[in-house]
Amino acid sequence: MASVMFLFFTLFLYPYGAASLANGDVTAVQMHALLSLRGMVSDPFGSLLSWNSSNHPCKWRGVGCSRKHAGRIVELNLNSLGLIGGISPLLANLSYLRVLDLGENQLRGHIPSDLGHLRRLRVLNLTMNSLQGSIPTSLRGCTQLTKLILARNQLHGEIPGELGALRNLAILKLQTNALSGKIPSSLGNMSSLLILSLSNNSLSGMIPASLGNLPNLTQIFLSQDRLSGAIPSSLGRLSNLVSLDLEVNSLTGTIPSPIWNISSLVGFSVRDNKLTGTIPPNAFNDLPLLELLFMGNNKFHGELPSSLTNATSLCSI
Ligand SMILES: *[C@@H]1O[C@H](CO)[C@@H](O)[C@H](O)[C@H]1NC(C)=O
Ligand SMILES: *[C@@H]1O[C@H](CO)[C@@H](O)[C@H](O)[C@H]1NC(C)=O
Ligand SMILES: *[C@@H]1O[C@H](CO)[C@@H](O)[C@H](O)[C@H]1NC(C)=O
Ligand SMILES: *[C@@H]1O[C@H](CO)[C@@H](O)[C@H](O)[C@H]1NC(C)=O
Ligand SMILES: *[C@@H]1O[C@H](CO)[C@@H](O)[C@H](O)[C@H]1NC(C)=O
Ligand SMILES: *[C@@H]1O[C@H](CO)[C@@H](O)[C@H](O)[C@H]1NC(C)=O
Ligand SMILES: *[C@@H]1O[C@H](CO)[C@@H](O)[C@H](O)[C@H]1NC(C)=O
Ligand SMILES: *[C@@H]1O[C@H](CO)[C@@H](O)[C@H](O)[C@H]1NC(C)=O
Repeated sequence: MASVMFLFFTLFLYPYGAASLANGDVTAVQMHALLSLRGMVSDPFGSLLSWNSSNHPCKWRGVGCSRKHAGRIVELNLNSLGLIGGISPLLANLSYLRVLDLGENQLRGHIPSDLGHLRRLRVLNLTMNSLQGSIPTSLRGCTQLTKLILARNQLHGEIPGELGALRNLAILKLQTNALSGKIPSSLGNMSSLLILSLSNNSLSGMIPASLGNLPNLTQIFLSQDRLSGAIPSSLGRLSNLVSLDLEVNSLTGTIPSPIWNISSLVGFSVRDNKLTGTIPPNAFNDLPLLELLFMGNNKFHGELPSSLTNATSLCSI
């Protein structure tokens, strides 16, 4: 069976002639992976007409090959091509892949757990599709990932704690899915994380204090979930934080005083929660960059402190 397959793809590659010398032969395994994806999607806009046998696969739309190592497919970018269908598990055989971007299509079905074999993958972008099922725990195997973008699908289940092993991850965007359960405290192990967006899911439980261990975090979006309990004071250690969006949850307790020390803050929203207590008089002394502040619809008492006039950039409350 394997040798028949090999023969088939050898013949298939043959017509490229001179072009294949320049670009190098793409192995039968990689060809099989591309054709398997092609077989699983329909292409109503003809975006993939270049995926034909008179054209070297390195010239196919969205396919990027290595310049150093001929014939190695390192990028597959089919973003916004109107493709309808599913994601082939055989893409896991594109073992040199660094970028897999299938964002903004109409892809259904599950994220194949085999993708966890892509050890060299740096960017996985599947946002704005209709993917269902859960986030495969196997993605922990993609240890080089810097961007994991699965936002705006219909993913269910819990965020796998295993993702905490992704030490190179800078951007984690899972917003607008149907994820439930707690935010795993292991996310506090993603030491390279810059942006964390988990908004608009059904996440419950407390905000893990371990997020305060991520010194490079600049943006935290945890709005429109079902989070409860207190805002961890450890977040006050995030001295590069620009946006902290916790609006529309069920958070209780007072705003921990270290939060008012995050002098990098530009946007801060806790509106529509169940927070209590007073806003300390000096709250806004050290927030010179603050532009957006939303605190309404809570159970605060007392007056807005006059230090607000120190937040000289403020334009919206
Ligand atoms: C194959 O792809 C090339 C490059 O896009 C295109 O010029 C050619 O028309 C295609 N051939 C067929 C049969 O679609
Ligand atoms: C291709 O991928 C499939 C599914 O992950 C796997 O079972 C198969 O062994 C792979 N084939 C090769 C040649 O790597
Ligand atoms: C991911 O896909 C979305 C939707 O097309 C796009 O806007 C975004 O720039 C992509 N991000 C990355 C890092 O590829
Ligand atoms: C996260 O780090 C802690 C120690 O800091 C360790 O006990 C835990 O196993 C790690 N979790 C993951 C998922 O890497
Ligand atoms: C939140 O998610 C729902 C679907 O789950 C979607 O219809 C809505 O547009 C999302 N809201 C935002 C602000 O993205
Ligand atoms: C934080 O960012 C700085 C500057 O980009 C970098 O040197 C440092 O290694 C990062 N810290 C972690 C824990 O990744
Ligand atoms: C942090 O807050 C404490 C008490 O609110 C205050 O004494 C201290 O000066 C603040 N530090 C910075 C760097 O703003
Ligand atoms: C503005 O901040 C300074 C210290 O940074 C403080 O002395 C002053 O009282 C504050 N202004 C108001 C109106 O609170």
